[in-house]
Amino acid sequence: MAVCNETIWITGATSGIGRALALKLARQGNLVIASGRSVEKLSALRVEEPSIEVLPFDVTAEDTIKTTQQRLRTLAPVLDRAILNAGDCEYLDLSSENWASLEKMVQVNFLGMVNSVRVCLPLLRHSERGHLIGVGSQAIFAPFPRAEGYGASKAAVSYFLSSLRMDVYKEGIDVTEILPGFVKTPLTARNDFAMPFLQPVDQAADRIVRAIEKRPFQYYFPKRLYLMLRIASWLPRLWLKLQARSAQKKN
Ligand SMILES: NC(=O)c1ccc[n+]([C@@H]2O[C@H](COP(=O)([O-])OP(=O)(O)OC[C@H]3O[C@@H](n4cnc5c(N)ncnc54)[C@H](OP(=O)(O)O)[C@@H]3O)[C@@H](O)[C@H]2O)c1
Repeated sequence: MAVCNETIWITGATSGIGRALALKLARQGNLVIASGRSVEKLSALRVEEPSIEVLPFDVTAEDTIKTTQQRLRTLAPVLDRAILNAGDCEYLDLSSENWASLEKMVQVNFLGMVNSVRVCLPLLRHSERGHLIGVGSQAIFAPFPRAEGYGASKAAVSYFLSSLRMDVYKEGIDVTEILPGFVKTPLTARNDFAMPFLQPVDQAADRIVRAIEKRPFQYYFPKRLYLMLRIASWLPRLWLKLQARSAQKKN
């Protein structure tokens, strides 16, 4: 059954995948509450789709969890689904000895996910069958160069969600981990390497919306990238050499 007549909170909804999801789900007849840090981008989203409610939230601001929860409760006392999608990607530059990006990845992607769960879990409990959806990454299936921070933060997200699933199961709350491959968004526009099977953002949003109807534990797409990364993980030395060769070509 198509996702319709539900109340859905989406983080990271001011750009890319989250924005496309917010528009699609709102136009499908759901009450969408969109979050992000940028008030301007949230206002622009509301101009594009006036049915969307907006709620500014910086996922790294642990001290705003309570107030954000109160505001969310005012907008939606019962939450059917939460799509926790806010995230960032910065690569580590070992030559500059700057490890700050690694800490930032953990703050935004992992602790940001934890903070977002803390905001929405009490409201999902009021739904007949709450659904918590976290956006991870297929980067967890094989190592990528300079992705020490990004990959580790998404691996942490993956474990966190699978463990959380066990704890909220008895409360009737489902947990789904979405694992996208490369999607064309402002985040990937910064990448300076080849991105196999790069897909348009609307196609990615369509796939996610169709997938969450069935509440799977995990949903990864495109399958072709998943297969490629599984083979890479079975042949780690070959993968290492291929990655090293393409890095050399770039320099
Ligand atoms: N694009 C891909 O190929 C790809 C692949 C795998 C996984 N993903 C994951 O998909 C998610 C969305 O990525 P995207 O490609 O759509 O990126 P994007 O276009 O850069 O959008 C990122 C969103 O996250 C929000 N955000 C970033 N830092 C935040 C913070 N501290 N607090 C609250 N919101 C924050 C941004 O909103 P504000 O700036 O307004 O705060 C924005 O709405 C991320 O978790 C990413 O890791 C993307």
